[in-house]
Amino acid sequence: MANTNKKYELSPFVKWAGGKKQLLEKLMHYAPDSFERYYEPFIGGGAFLFELQPEKAIINDVNEQLLNIYKCLKTDADALIAEIRKLDSVDCDKERYYNLRDVFNDKISNRSLDIECAALMIWINKHCFNGLYRVNSKGLFNVPYNNKKAGKSMNEDNLRNIGKYLAENDIEITQGDFESACKSAKAGDFVYFDSPYIPESETASFTDYTKDGFTYEDHERLAVLFSELDSRGVKVMLSNNNVPLVYELYDGYVINPVDAKRSINSDASNRFGKEVIITNY
Ligand SMILES: C[S@@+](CC[C@H](N)C(=O)[O-])C[C@H]1O[C@@H](n2cnc3c(N)ncnc32)[C@H](O)[C@@H]1O
Repeated sequence: MANTNKKYELSPFVKWAGGKKQLLEKLMHYAPDSFERYYEPFIGGGAFLFELQPEKAIINDVNEQLLNIYKCLKTDADALIAEIRKLDSVDCDKERYYNLRDVFNDKISNRSLDIECAALMIWINKHCFNGLYRVNSKGLFNVPYNNKKAGKSMNEDNLRNIGKYLAENDIEITQGDFESACKSAKAGDFVYFDSPYIPESETASFTDYTKDGFTYEDHERLAVLFSELDSRGVKVMLSNNNVPLVYELYDGYVINPVDAKRSINSDASNRFGKEVIITNY
């Protein structure tokens, strides 16, 4: 059970596929009591980071627009809040949504990772269908409008406090593949992997989180990295669906089936929990 240094009440600033809000209690239960530096190579919406609030961390994702938001929050949360306020000050309709989506896509194409790009991504996340992040083969965002006309795209206090947490602590924000994000992890550090999940059924297809998707080979690569980190003395935790492939890939490690809705004790006897939390300690 992790000891938390929680100073702020923080929650994810975007709705994100695979968000870990429902599983936080279980993740806290299976996380190690103590560790040096925390690594989260698939940070997404950051639900677990915001619960754990480690003092030293490296957070990473392949999505550079998402990482840009974390960077803007760390550098100047108030400036980002002001930019989002401007977007929220005008009611939305179909035309406005698709115009702003075009502006966001220009930012993606030009790789302009600035405060406007961060504000647009947060605003779009609240105005697009189901808060999805999906891109086409050119890497351009293509989720349709959810028909929401007005309302706030943010909780200002939450953004301000996330900014404080990121700035007051030693939090490094990197963009890239999960393997390179773990290069500096050493004995005593703690890595939590929450990759795109293996599909629940064999007929379901792998989710495309980015233009590259996350393939079967990526899952194999992740399992190899898990055991490399294990042999370096790093504490490793990983979540995934409770499917046969997971038992093949992580044979020999502690695989705990969990159900977001059930208590810890009832999970222990339940080999059929929907998800698993795997640890090497
Ligand atoms: C299941 S989500 C993480 C959800 C996160 N735990 C949360 O609470 O919101 C998986 C994340 O992995 C990222 N991703 C996909 N392929 C990646 C790769 N090869 N390296 C690093 N990140 C990757 C996606 O952009 C996505 O944010």
